[in-house]
Amino acid sequence: MNYEDRFRDQVAIVTGGASGIGLAIGQRIAYEGGIVILADINAAGLARAARDDDSSQGKVLTRRVDVTSESDVCDLIDKVLADHKRLDIVVNSAGIVGPTSTNIVDYHLCSFRDVLDVNLVGSFILIKHALSAMLRQDYGRILLLASIAGKEGNPGMAGYSASKAGVIGLVKGVAKEYAHTGVTINALAPALLDTPLTDRISDEQLAYMTRRIPMGRLGTTAEAAALACWLVSDEASFNTGAVFDLSGGRATY
Ligand SMILES: NC(=O)c1ccc[n+]([C@@H]2O[C@H](COP(=O)([O-])OP(=O)(O)OC[C@H]3O[C@@H](n4cnc5c(N)ncnc54)[C@H](O)[C@@H]3O)[C@@H](O)[C@H]2O)c1
Repeated sequence: MNYEDRFRDQVAIVTGGASGIGLAIGQRIAYEGGIVILADINAAGLARAARDDDSSQGKVLTRRVDVTSESDVCDLIDKVLADHKRLDIVVNSAGIVGPTSTNIVDYHLCSFRDVLDVNLVGSFILIKHALSAMLRQDYGRILLLASIAGKEGNPGMAGYSASKAGVIGLVKGVAKEYAHTGVTINALAPALLDTPLTDRISDEQLAYMTRRIPMGRLGTTAEAAALACWLVSDEASFNTGAVFDLSGGRATY
């Protein structure tokens, strides 16, 4: 089900928007009337997303951005504000999985740093600079992609699990700093969804993660977009600092 005008006159940035969950969320916000800027490091993926855009109500724009670069993120936000005068929604779906099926003794420090840089430092940079813009208009919705790995930990994925636990802590702490404003900050914690990211997870690791989902299947990007779009809508006004599960029953707390 779509709500035709839910995001009319709203402006959204979706990082990781060239693929998977970010693309599905961005497309749905545009379909429901929003102006969406898909931001991603993958220029070819962005071009494909722009070509495939069939949003009936809103508009999809794209921009190449590396979320680990503070200047890239600041330039993006400045450009959005210059062009559209406001920023209502930021979804951070940029992420990498890093090594899988790799116990910590074999996990290279440089890989650990890379995963933390994209998944956690990128989240820090984005929240920090999006907030400044949103506080000026006293309205905003920030949604970060965490993971069940950050709540429960997945063996063989030290960097990924640690980075997503960090995202959860970031959301919980910073949301309380701004809970008295019109800006909410929440996280989504999927178990396993069928996206190009799962292609980069070893078969052994995938089997472990799928076995732990009581529904016995992977989730879809449409299911992620449905929950995410409610969380970034103005209806979700009493939720901040919360982590929303999307786990087919895997999450136990
Ligand atoms: N798919 C799952 O099962 C699953 C489960 C839990 C959490 N997540 C999280 O959801 C988010 C989206 O995952 P997905 O499954 O859609 O993956 P995906 O690989 O389909 O999409 C991730 C996107 O992030 C982009 N990206 C990577 N590094 C970037 C950077 N430095 N700057 C900007 N963009 C960058 C990639 O180019 C890609 O387009 C990630 O944070 C992931 O950790 C996914």
